[in-house]
Amino acid sequence: MNDCLSTLNWLVEAGADEAIAEQPVNRLTAKVTVAPLQAPAAARPAPARAPVVLPLDGDAIGSAQAAAAAATSLSELQAALEAFEGCALKRTATSTVFADGVADGRIMLIGEAPGRDEDRVGKPFVGRAGQLLDKMLASIALDRKTNAYITNVINWRPPDNRDPTPEEAAACLPFLRRHIELAQPKLIILLGAVAARHVVGISDGIMKLRGRWLEYRVGDVMVPLMPTLHPAYLLRQPSHKKLAWRDLQAVRDKMKMLGLPEQVARTGDAV
Ligand code: URA
Repeated sequence: MNDCLSTLNWLVEAGADEAIAEQPVNRLTAKVTVAPLQAPAAARPAPARAPVVLPLDGDAIGSAQAAAAAATSLSELQAALEAFEGCALKRTATSTVFADGVADGRIMLIGEAPGRDEDRVGKPFVGRAGQLLDKMLASIALDRKTNAYITNVINWRPPDNRDPTPEEAAACLPFLRRHIELAQPKLIILLGAVAARHVVGISDGIMKLRGRWLEYRVGDVMVPLMPTLHPAYLLRQPSHKKLAWRDLQAVRDKMKMLGLPEQVARTGDAV
């Protein structure tokens, strides 16, 4: 019994916190069987679940682009994302995770994808990595309650916290790009390699990218963008916190130069 419990705890720690079928499958011994294309109706096993018919990827990306482009405010964009059915991740997630914080401060942070806690709560960075992120932000006088705005590249939790596939990212990206346009940040912080890869399209390791200013075009404006280490990585490699600290110092200096965070009248469109 204790063995079962500790195995279960270990699986949950590793991120496998959902059952995806009624019965466990031992994949070390299970044989792969391929159903004949035209089995007689009587011999065909009933499908366990209704098959999910996804639009082709091109369709998914096209409809994501159309839905995102039609949104003229953050709340419209959130509604469009919640209505969007073109990303397979939505089918296994509990929540659509849009954003947290206030867009008015003009500082936008972009992470990777919701995890278990974010999926449960429906907001980004609310688990252990989020607590560390809050401390990192506090060290440069930022705070999601008053002047920082946080989102992710991916809006639905990938099962077992696996990396999002290129198709999943491609379906979410039009929403992220519109999200950035509507939030109009004056400074962007990218958290981790996945965010860097999808937002600026550079696949260099985050260790190579971090700490160097890049730019992201929003309309006619080039917005300074700082890639840094993901807080979940820092929880695993605390000795690298000093590198993230250096990046945050550079962000603090840049904020000072740009007169950020801005104190602007609230538009009522904060999330
Ligand atoms: N990691 C992320 O990248 N985003 C979250 O929202 C939580 C953990």
